[in-house]
Amino acid sequence: MSKIVFIGGGNMASCLIGGMLANGFSSQDITVSEPNDDSRQRMKSTHGVLTTADNLAAVSQADIVVLAVKPQIMAAVASPLEAKLKHKPIIVSIAAGIPVGALQSWLGQDLKIVRAMPNTPAMVQSGATGLFANQSLDGGQQAMIENIFSAVGYACWVGQESDIDAVTAVSGSGPAYFFLVYEAMLKVAQELGLEKQTASQLTLHTALGAARLALASESTPNELREQVTSPGGTTQAAIESFQAQDLEGIFRTAMTSALERAKEMSDDFAG
Ligand SMILES: NC(=O)c1ccc[n+]([C@@H]2O[C@H](COP(=O)([O-])OP(=O)(O)OC[C@H]3O[C@@H](n4cnc5c(N)ncnc54)[C@H](OP(=O)(O)O)[C@@H]3O)[C@@H](O)[C@H]2O)c1
Repeated sequence: MSKIVFIGGGNMASCLIGGMLANGFSSQDITVSEPNDDSRQRMKSTHGVLTTADNLAAVSQADIVVLAVKPQIMAAVASPLEAKLKHKPIIVSIAAGIPVGALQSWLGQDLKIVRAMPNTPAMVQSGATGLFANQSLDGGQQAMIENIFSAVGYACWVGQESDIDAVTAVSGSGPAYFFLVYEAMLKVAQELGLEKQTASQLTLHTALGAARLALASESTPNELREQVTSPGGTTQAAIESFQAQDLEGIFRTAMTSALERAKEMSDDFAG
């Protein structure tokens, strides 16, 4: 079995490891390298994985190294690892906005590097992750990386690195778009007379049900919408109001802003 080493034992590492253990990975194949004693202890007691404070020793034994530290400290954490990567483990970075080129400049040019963009619903095994590899992985390597991220939800590969910026604008930031809609529907539902708890549960179960129905169905979003929209009825009144205010245009502007910001952040790291 491949040895997987996490550099950084924070929230995202913990959530990935929890999913991996629930999906057949062995705790003895996973090592977390993390300077903070409390975080190491938490990793050991929660997940039973191996822990260390020695990043260099950890990566020298790894088949896969998952870089799970904050983007702003990635250069300082990654640069010293280069000397211990001669056996060429696959590098997986989950750090937002750090391009492959920057990782290569810190870690070595000829490594297989995967950029992963997970999102926060990974915490409840309902994440969505986009993956990009700078070199082709063999079937076993590709499956192993997919297994790590599909343990916490849906995972898919994208064809070029710039697609990761689009993934960031869609699913990386996307949970917040739905939370914004949740917030708005919750407020208005209360103004319409519902108790907060009732409004919240009805809104969230509607979101969950709509997503499940769409996932289970072959229909287009437009067809699904038409199934709930009888002519002259309540849904039509609401939809016409959204469309009169150009809901699609609002999303286009917002998601394009997220994409542009993701590009700017990558450009900062590319120097
Ligand atoms: N959270 C998300 O939803 C999400 C989504 C997509 C991508 N990401 C990416 O995932 C990465 C981790 O995010 P997170 O939310 O898990 O952050 P986090 O909870 O702060 O985890 C980072 C961990 O790295 C540790 N660390 C600091 N210096 C280190 C070093 N020299 N060697 C090894 N470990 C070190 C930190 O320890 P201390 O606490 O002692 O500093 C902390 O435990 C980020 O790059 C972020 O962009 C997160």
